[in-house]
Amino acid sequence: MEFSGRTCIVTGAARGMGFAVAKKYAENGANVVMMDVNETLLAESAKTVDALGEGTVLPMAVDISKTANIEKAMAEVEEKLGAVYALVNCAGISLYTPMLEYTEKDWDTSFDICLKGLFFLSQAAARNMVKYGVKGKIVSFSSQAGKIGEPGGVAYDSAKAGVAMLTQCMALDLAQYGISCTAVAPGMVNTEMIQAYLARDCVNYGMTKEEFEAKRLEGIPFGRMGEPSEVAELVYFLSSDRGAYITGETINFTGGSCNI
Ligand SMILES: NC(=O)c1ccc[n+]([C@@H]2O[C@H](COP(=O)([O-])OP(=O)(O)OC[C@H]3O[C@@H](n4cnc5c(N)ncnc54)[C@H](O)[C@@H]3O)[C@@H](O)[C@H]2O)c1
Repeated sequence: MEFSGRTCIVTGAARGMGFAVAKKYAENGANVVMMDVNETLLAESAKTVDALGEGTVLPMAVDISKTANIEKAMAEVEEKLGAVYALVNCAGISLYTPMLEYTEKDWDTSFDICLKGLFFLSQAAARNMVKYGVKGKIVSFSSQAGKIGEPGGVAYDSAKAGVAMLTQCMALDLAQYGISCTAVAPGMVNTEMIQAYLARDCVNYGMTKEEFEAKRLEGIPFGRMGEPSEVAELVYFLSSDRGAYITGETINFTGGSCNI
């Protein structure tokens, strides 16, 4: 199989898009390291992923916002599985608060998870790839919200814009080793995160969740949300040999909404 013997780390792998990516790798023979802060859900999701393929599945309860955790986790990955082939930085939280009420804690939480943790994990994975001479792949999750901005998204949207620039910079530094760095920028993808957003923000517009969802879908030319399995196909392609010449790019995944 295409990914047999390749170790792929996926953060935020307990649910949503990270879970979909972990399943796609397992189906194609990879060893899958599933990192997530939600230990209980991770254990359950890892069982599902393990049943899909022949590779090793290693669930790791890690809060990627703490750099000390990252060092420890990466040392364990190397000890158990050696070289890393791919890192998919999917873990994230979307904290929306009106700008005038934004606290330092909200700011730090958003940046520590969505940008700082993502960088230091990428650095640790890249060091592993260079050490083992692997022409590896780093795929990170940015967001449409990092391109067009949304009310209340001062930190989340800024951090996601940062992911796109970080991807460009890492790509330039790592090209000499044959390592590619790309990002995906989803619009609305049907996960627990988006369902929680619809339920929370509908009240700001005086709508029910269903009304708010219908209004948001009007802004998507395809008239529907993306599915996690569809994003997983894109991430898989970017991290496969077929996507090897693409680096530094952030690919929109929005059903056309980023173009209107
Ligand atoms: N769903 C969307 O429409 C959408 C749109 C644009 C961007 N994104 C981004 O895509 C990524 C995946 O989103 P999703 O919708 O699948 O989210 P989700 O909330 O369904 O899943 C995110 C996962 O990340 C984990 N996580 C959160 N903080 C963590 C931490 N500190 N350390 C380790 N794991 C942590 C959570 O426990 C959860 O399992 C996120 O980075 C998100 O910001 C999502």
